[in-house]
This record gives sequence, structure tokens and C-alpha cells, in this order.
Amino acid sequence: MLDWPLMKNNISRADLDAAIELLRQDDPALTQSVNVRAFEREWSEWLGVKHSVFVNSGSSANLVTMAALKELYGSGEVVVPTITWVSDIASVLHAGLEPVFVDIDPRTLGMDNKQVLQALTPRTRAVFLTHVLGYNALTPRLLEELKRRSVPLIEDACESHGATFQDRKLGTFGLASNFSFYYAHHLSTIEGGMVCTNDAGFYEMVRMFRSHGLVREMDSADRKREYAVGYEDLNPEFIFALPGFNVRGTEINAVIGRSQLKLLDDNIIVRTENLRLFLSFLDPAKYQTDFAVEGSSNYALTLILKKPGMGRCIRVMNLLKENGVEFRRGTAGGGNQTRQPYLRNYFAGPPYKKYPRADHVHFYGFYIGNYPALERSKIVKLCKLLNETT
Ligand SMILES: Cc1ncc(COP(=O)(O)O)c(C=O)c1O
Repeated sequence: MLDWPLMKNNISRADLDAAIELLRQDDPALTQSVNVRAFEREWSEWLGVKHSVFVNSGSSANLVTMAALKELYGSGEVVVPTITWVSDIASVLHAGLEPVFVDIDPRTLGMDNKQVLQALTPRTRAVFLTHVLGYNALTPRLLEELKRRSVPLIEDACESHGATFQDRKLGTFGLASNFSFYYAHHLSTIEGGMVCTNDAGFYEMVRMFRSHGLVREMDSADRKREYAVGYEDLNPEFIFALPGFNVRGTEINAVIGRSQLKLLDDNIIVRTENLRLFLSFLDPAKYQTDFAVEGSSNYALTLILKKPGMGRCIRVMNLLKENGVEFRRGTAGGGNQTRQPYLRNYFAGPPYKKYPRADHVHFYGFYIGNYPALERSKIVKLCKLLNETT
């Protein structure tokens, strides 16, 4: 038995001690306060953006990002991936925007850039791209074309903390980017997420959406004054400018995040090395090994059968189960989103037939846990077992 869960020891003793230290204080502030502010500042500095807004999950980051996009850019379409997390599509639907799906590029598992460009219309309000499992999904052509056509890019980097493209961190290229700090991610705050942007207007809007749509949540004193003057009949403390949510994090989450940030770069190096080892030991005749690893920051090990075949797929799953290796079929988001019930009423006819590459991952792709404490000997042993599977 390899005893290999999806994640182990992601929140360390030091992180828990940091939370205990906070709780030891006399009457500590626990709701969003100075530690949330400090975490946002430190995260912005680590990532290389001007502004970050801490929220209670990556899905909440998606939710407020799409709400702000709709508010700023109006109704229309958003180009989205078929392999992603449910909230990347749900957030588009909740904002009243229309998702337009494209197939994946098998080497990055991200959106096929050519199909993205073909999907752009005058009604496109954004391209909402996911960097899957730590692989970069951007190309120079995509960035150039989106800039030329003034189409905002939103990056979901929930699975790709620290991954780079052209020596710049993913999550710094678009109008905004979203991160998840759920337990198995590169950095964890138990539950948590971040919206990051260099755009001051977008930032203020996301701050308001996070907290009931309240004007007082904005940083800008001028903007707050404008509202107070414009709505003299309202108490300036209670001006609800937007139909907002409450998706705030707490001081406890932020303290854990600040502590985790200290080890993030070291952890990324180990995770990335684990992926290189895994791919170098896998038999390329049986498994896909030609991923675009340059600049990647691995979230979980990618195991994708080279050729379709249900018999082999079942044998591989049995091998993983027999050896105590936890896995997820279809990779992180459960495979081809367009096959999911929540989207069935959205399309006329079975849409998933249009996305054969996403379907290959859906049926014959898996992710296996990767974490800093994972023993390298286990990776080598698993590859040997996988290679022997007929
Ligand atoms: C690509 C992607 N986006 C969004 C999310 C949602 O994050 P959360 O679980 O923090 O809501 C996840 C979750 O793992 C994810 O993998």
C-alpha cells in the first residue's frame, strides 16, 4: 500500500500556532480586520499586482469577479473552458452572462487558444480562462489579440499559484485573476480565495460586492464623498450601491494565510519537482507526458491515458485503489463541464459531442495528489506499477 491521499499536512503546526497566538489575545478582532488587510497587501506583493481582495473561497472570488464584470461591461457572452471548476461557469450564469464553451489544448489542459479567438464576437464581454492544475494556458498570440480587440481577460489561477508565463506570475496578465485557498491548494487558509487586479475601479467594485454592496467598503475617500453628496437622504454608512453579497473571510483565515505565505515559494519548488519526476518515469507510449511544463507550478499530478480504452482505464483505476492512491477522474473539475446536469437545460441537444479533447480527459484523465511531504520513492514506485499495467 502506498497510502497516498490527495493532500497531507497542508496546514502546518506553525500555521496553527499563528492562529492560536491570535486567539490568545484579549478580545481579538475575529471578523475581517487588520490581518485581512495585511494578507491582501502581502499577497499583492508576492503576486505582483496593485490590489487584492480576500474572500471566503475561490468560488466566491469567481462570483464577485463576474458580478463586477457584468456591472462594468454589461450583458453579453463570456468565453469559458470545458475543463474547469463548476463555479467558473456558475458565476457567469449567476451574473446573467452567457457562457460560450471551447475545447482544450491537450498540452496545457487550458482553452485551445485558436478556438478562443474564433469564439470572439461583438457580444464578448470577457475571456475567462482557467490555468488547469498549474499549467500555463496563455500564449503571446492570445494576449495580443485580446488587447487588440479590447476584450478583458480574467484568469482563474485557483490551481496555479506561482506558475509563470514569460517570467511573470500567472494572475497578473488580465483585468483580474482569482485564487483559491481551499485545503489542497498550494496555499491554504482552510477556506478562502483572492481576487487580484491592477484596475482601481474594478478593485473598488469587488470590495463592495464582497460586503453587501456597501459604499463604505471602498478605499477611495473621493468616491465615498461622491456617493454621500449624491444621496443626501441616506446615511453614508449605509449606502448600498450594488446588489452585493457577503463573502468576507475572517481574521483566523488571514492569519493562517500570512503564515502559509512564508513557505509558499519553497513548497512550489517541491511540487514542481514532483511533477517532473512523475512525468519522467511514466511510459510515454501508455500515458501522456508531453505537457507544457515550462513555468508550471503543479497542483496535482496529471495522469492521462494516451489512447482511449475503457478496459485499460478500469485497470488503472483498480491499480490506484488497490495501492491506496486517492485520485479524481476527469481531473480537478470532474471532467467535461458541458456533460453536467446543471448545464443540460442550457443547450439544445448534447453539447459535449463538440469537445472531443475535453471528453478524452473526462473519461481517461485523472489527478493524483501532490504535496510537499510526498515521498519521491512513492512516485517512482507508482510509475513502475502504472507502466506494468496492460
Ligand atoms: C480552477 C478552480 N476554480 C475555482 C475553484 C473554486 O475554489 P473553492 O473550492 O475555494 O471554492 C477551484 C477549486 O478547487 C478550482 O480548481
